[in-house]
Amino acid sequence: MTVPVIAIDGPSASGKGTIAALVAQHLDFHYLDSGALYRIVGLIGGERAANLDDDTEMSRITLNLNIKFTGTGVEANGREVSALIRDEKAGAAASRIAVLPGVRAALMTLQHGFRQPPGLVADGRDMGSVVFPDAGLKIYLTATPEERALRRYKQLIEKGGSASMAALLQDIRDRDFRDSNRAAAPLLKCAGAIEIDTTGTPVDAVVAQVLRSYQ
Ligand code: CDP
Repeated sequence: MTVPVIAIDGPSASGKGTIAALVAQHLDFHYLDSGALYRIVGLIGGERAANLDDDTEMSRITLNLNIKFTGTGVEANGREVSALIRDEKAGAAASRIAVLPGVRAALMTLQHGFRQPPGLVADGRDMGSVVFPDAGLKIYLTATPEERALRRYKQLIEKGGSASMAALLQDIRDRDFRDSNRAAAPLLKCAGAIEIDTTGTPVDAVVAQVLRSYQ
């Protein structure tokens, strides 16, 4: 029997991570945060002063990386990197290396490995289109760029950081452009996906809608 998958895709800061983790918790499914993988590759590439636009170099780094989700965080080569990968710099580096087909291919086996009984909720950009095309439920989450920038702003302020709304909005627009216009696995609402616009909708209402669609 094939293990069921719920694929949740969408643009930066559309709430995929929050929604996917809660849906997984409700169903007692495993959870794959595929963005964390791209963020780790971006982080390590930056630390090693690698050329983030070079597919050969970045694919080699990716294939030699040992990534492990520990339940409370995520480790790269035995080092806890959860906090490091969350800053905007790692996000921008992630979106840069994410255009490289070799890097995307190198992360494929790792992602497929998360498909374990009783089921998986996976979030990212290409979960429904490329990684789990046979997913039983595909969700495409959106929200206006302004609402997404505001969410990011609140997250950063809550963590005690500082942020500029104008800069965050620009970053979201840049990331949307890069994610949607790349040749390899671009961000798109794939065939059969249910689109949910989360602008102004509370988290629990979105979670309930996803669970209703699954049942
Ligand atoms: O939280 P946010 O949506 O900003 O980012 P994320 O989901 O952690 O992903 C970071 C970056 O990785 C995105 O901007 C994408 O370029 C890339 N990514 C991807 O290409 N494919 C995925 N399945 C997940 C992330």
